[in-house]
Amino acid sequence: MERFFATAPGRVNLLGEHVDYNQGIVLPAAVDRRVKIHARRLAEPRALLHALDFSQQVELSLSLDALNARCDREGNPLPAWALYPAGVAWALLRSGYPVEGLEATYTSDIPIGAGLSSSAAVEVAFASLWQAMGGWTISRLDLARLCQYAENAYVGVNCGLMDQFASVHGIAGHALCFDVRALTYEAVPLPGDVMLVIADSGVRRSLAASAYNERRAACEEAVERLRPYLPGIQALRDVRVEDFSRLAHFLPEVVRRRAQHVVEEIARVERAVEALKRADIVLFGQLMLQGHRSLRDLYEVSTPELDFLVDFAARQPGCWGARLTGAGFGGCTINLVQREWVEPFVRNLKEAYQREIGLTAEVYICLASVGAHAQRVN
Ligand code: GLA
Repeated sequence: MERFFATAPGRVNLLGEHVDYNQGIVLPAAVDRRVKIHARRLAEPRALLHALDFSQQVELSLSLDALNARCDREGNPLPAWALYPAGVAWALLRSGYPVEGLEATYTSDIPIGAGLSSSAAVEVAFASLWQAMGGWTISRLDLARLCQYAENAYVGVNCGLMDQFASVHGIAGHALCFDVRALTYEAVPLPGDVMLVIADSGVRRSLAASAYNERRAACEEAVERLRPYLPGIQALRDVRVEDFSRLAHFLPEVVRRRAQHVVEEIARVERAVEALKRADIVLFGQLMLQGHRSLRDLYEVSTPELDFLVDFAARQPGCWGARLTGAGFGGCTINLVQREWVEPFVRNLKEAYQREIGLTAEVYICLASVGAHAQRVN
């Protein structure tokens, strides 16, 4: 029996938050926390999925009709975790790719719901697996887009392309400067002596999906309202900082704040990428802190716990920059910490968080890592 292995990483975003769905520029890195799938081919069009982390299993029929129903082979509604592999199978079939029958056992060490793209990693790992099993070709970018399509249209989360992109394209030791409009990217080396220290606030906001969609809607409204003054604009990507300052008073208060974050954040990423190329980690860190303040005050997606973690981190020796990472509404902060300072940094941060907030912060010390791959193993 043919056996396969597939793996895909989570990601951390260094800068460029809530700009991917505004056709902006993002700067994520894949991290060395991953989904791993071991699979064997089945002759019939069904998928028997064992999710080790949930101690659950589900059996799917691999036909569009059955997948459309979001039910297992016995007609029971799919548990949330199974929507991701099912969504990928559905997106592949809808796009005309064959989807092989399989039995797959998988596990992940990416914390769930923490803003590190655990769901994108599951999608990308399964898409890579089915590609390796089917032997068909697809560009890596199209693979990422297909997973985004699964998440948007099947799972029902209206995310942008950043997470799936990063999980597919990750390069060890590098951040990925991804232009979501041009769909091009450049790998930018991260300083070898700086670690990606990710601190999980442990807080999860239940209405995060609707708050995310509200932010998207505000950005679209800003474009509509600015278009009479800037004919032809398609997205906030088209609005320069100078134009925004001149025109901001035409926008309602909340929409103005949301749009200001996006317009300035895109400019910030441009500056930060230049700084990183010059190995100017001091400026890079300052831009991260500015990005956090903007997410806190203008985009309003931070929480008191994330603010505490960022403010505390920014005062620690050896920490170049800190900010919330991912959509916000809870989840994690990313801290760039000089290697020799990591140990006291982590100890002090955890102690302070416990003492002041009364919660335990899990901390993940990560390296920028390679993207998804899948292969036959026998
Ligand atoms: C989530 C989404 C991404 C992106 C970020 C915010 O991670 O999945 O597409 O919009 O939020 O930057």
